[in-house]
Amino acid sequence: MESLAELRSRALVCTACPLSERRTNVVFGEGDPKSPLVLVGEGPGENEDKQGRPFIGRAGQLLDRALVDAGLTREMVYITNTVKCRAADWSTGKPVNRAPTEAEATACREWLVPQLAIMAPKVILCIGAPSAKNLIKKNFQITKERGKYFPCEFAKTAIATLHPAYILRQANISGDGGYSLLVADIARAWEAANRLVQM
Ligand code: URA
Ligand code: SF4
Repeated sequence: MESLAELRSRALVCTACPLSERRTNVVFGEGDPKSPLVLVGEGPGENEDKQGRPFIGRAGQLLDRALVDAGLTREMVYITNTVKCRAADWSTGKPVNRAPTEAEATACREWLVPQLAIMAPKVILCIGAPSAKNLIKKNFQITKERGKYFPCEFAKTAIATLHPAYILRQANISGDGGYSLLVADIARAWEAANRLVQM
């Protein structure tokens, strides 16, 4: 099998979908490739595109805090995304981040599928609906089905959670916007991953 480094170097020059046209960097992923838990987000935003690293902007900082509150750190897991290039609407001149289309997510499986196959994690934590729709099932309902275990082709099991960017948008509504659910889902995914390692 190809190594993760070899796969990465091929992905860094990918032009398989139109997102390649406006990107600065392909954001392949980072962390511990041997971790029993892999996090799969939606796709790079502005900061991630600039620096070539996943989850380093505002949503990423909230994710880092949630990882710590769940008893782990970013270095203990591997973090990647559904699409490796930034998806944005450029029609107004100023780019506005958007969810990847199904076609873009499908195109980028060219990298995500072998990436997951090489790492063979015990558990995949899908961050947000596009990731869960891509890796668990097409009609995944994030608010109803987050925090539950699902069968997954690429790991022993997969769990989905709320996207930190979504939580940031809810923050002015009563409660914590779903932050405590994000922390609980991460803790649950980590616990399952470690239980599966011992089996
Ligand atoms: N949101 C994501 O889904 N992924 C990132 O890498 C950053 C923000
Ligand atoms: Fe290639 Fe994925 Fe970037 Fe599209 S988003 S150009 S498939 S790396």
